[in-house]
Amino acid sequence: MPALLELDAVSKRFGGLDANRDVSLVVEEGQIVGLIGPNGAGKTTLFNCVSGFFPPTSGSIRFAGNEIAGWAPERVLRAGLARTFQVVRTFPEMTVLDNVMIGAFARTNRAGEARARAAELLAFTGLAGRAHARGADLTIADKKRLELTRALATQPRLLMLDEVMAGLNPAERAQAVTLIRAIRDRGTTVLLVEHVMEVVMPISDHVVVLDSGRKIAEGPPRTIVRDPNVIAAYLGEKYRPRDEGTA
Ligand SMILES: Nc1ncnc2c1ncn2[C@@H]1O[C@H](COP(=O)(O)OP(=O)(O)OP(=O)(O)O)[C@@H](O)[C@H]1O
Ligand SMILES: [Mg+2]
Repeated sequence: MPALLELDAVSKRFGGLDANRDVSLVVEEGQIVGLIGPNGAGKTTLFNCVSGFFPPTSGSIRFAGNEIAGWAPERVLRAGLARTFQVVRTFPEMTVLDNVMIGAFARTNRAGEARARAAELLAFTGLAGRAHARGADLTIADKKRLELTRALATQPRLLMLDEVMAGLNPAERAQAVTLIRAIRDRGTTVLLVEHVMEVVMPISDHVVVLDSGRKIAEGPPRTIVRDPNVIAAYLGEKYRPRDEGTA
């Protein structure tokens, strides 16, 4: 079986800056893949290239059997690839339910069907109690959850999450982890950008590390946390796997 998503030597230049340089990676169907690296490493840029927000300068992006590099965002979305945004994009004056219906309309023109799907997904993500609240009135944790619910309403095969845990407290993070696992268990593959190592390492089947636009390492989390290049470029002392102690 070919991989669900396969990037081959993807580069993105902004003027003189190589925001992504020859990045190759594979996401297998059914996996949770973590994409990590320091601020400015090029994680969001890679998401933007893959999801069609701008074309890569060069390189190949294959998703579900199609070469999608340069496709418009709507076309990528209809092909089954949805993403969330690092800066949340809730429609503040619309209700939570209507916000999610916008996602559902990627698959249907019927309002009743879109509403039913939105309601079902709000129950799944734990936001049903807020369905009639205005987007603007949600906490940051609920806004992140809403954005995730709207992405799910497009029925993606691959869901790309850009820092959905940022700004959440530990209890909210634990809920988000449970939710992401449940999403994968329902059959959606997940690629997530996250700075919280206590979250990304336990949840990921495979981790890819970017630094200054380049891939510097990839592998299972237990290998990545011990990789000297990754520790030097990013992890430093801030993350130690639990089984290593500090003595
Ligand atoms: N639209 C753009 N135009 C010009 N430069 C950009 C643009 N988008 C990103 N960059 C630059 O590309 C580099 C990579 O940025 P990017 O946002 O992809 O990093 P990131 O890994 O997501 O960082 P963070 O962890 O802070 O979100 C940075 O130097 C950034 O300033
Ligand atoms: Mg980013």
